[in-house]
Amino acid sequence: MEIFKQIAPLRSFLGELKKSGKTIGLVPTMGALHQGHISLIEASKSQNSVTVASIYINPTQFNNPRDLQKYPKTPEKDVEMLRKVGCDVVFCPDDEEMYEDAPLLKLDFGSLDKVMEGKFRPGHFSGVALVVSKLFNIVEPDSAYFGQKDWQQYAVIRRLVTELKFSFKLYSVPILREPDGLAMSSRNLRLTGSQRTNAIVFYQAIAMAKESLKKGKSLETVKKAVSDKVNETPEMRLEYFELADSKNLNILDGVDKTASPILCIAGYAGEVRLIDNMFLD
Ligand code: PAJ
Repeated sequence: MEIFKQIAPLRSFLGELKKSGKTIGLVPTMGALHQGHISLIEASKSQNSVTVASIYINPTQFNNPRDLQKYPKTPEKDVEMLRKVGCDVVFCPDDEEMYEDAPLLKLDFGSLDKVMEGKFRPGHFSGVALVVSKLFNIVEPDSAYFGQKDWQQYAVIRRLVTELKFSFKLYSVPILREPDGLAMSSRNLRLTGSQRTNAIVFYQAIAMAKESLKKGKSLETVKKAVSDKVNETPEMRLEYFELADSKNLNILDGVDKTASPILCIAGYAGEVRLIDNMFLD
């Protein structure tokens, strides 16, 4: 496995591989890797000759300085996991390499980034779109892989890719969960024992909501039940729970047969922010 910290040598290394007809899959991450990330690497490996994983904690997507400061870092373990799964190339630049100067460019995704994550984390998607654009330009992949876990992020990146006419293929990979249902997340490493146990309430709440909506309960009743369930669990606090059209992220006020609805939830376990989602169908 080749490890690069700098753009220029990575570019020339990948350039040679492309000349010999190899296809490149890109998996962007912020490290503190878990099996969810590894499933993206596996998806890339199954479709490309060479898989590049990037590990970079991108400061411009953090709207909360404490969240950035406390973001888990497990670099040695990450490299070991990537080696074990057969990842070919790791790109782990520092801030200087990725942002020589403070960025001036801001990206606005209109209706896609004014709801849910975008509403509660102003500037977040501009930072995500900026860093993934850099990665797309550096690696020039044939395919790039993102998780359904961050559905809104995927929707924003999909728009970025089509609007800027990037020519690679974009894939969304299903959410990997812990045995009790909690969506795998790097931030789970920050949870105390009791917070970890109680955090399954976010998964349980959307699973319950899905059942209830399928049985014909009103969205209003379901929203109240979700909010009560989360907020009555010690140390857990709901930030939002929405039913949205997964294609355009329009917020729905009831089950809409013409949309492809997705249930999205975000909240806090202590001071750790967690998100999850589930398609209605
Ligand atoms: P990070 O949170 O490290 O996630 C990297 C990728 O792994 C994302 O595409 C995310 O959706 C996916 N992922 C996370 N948890 C998952 C799970 N339980 N199952 C399946 N996939 C999962 O998302 C980011 O980093 C950053 O915003 C990034 C795109 C790298 C830009 O900085």
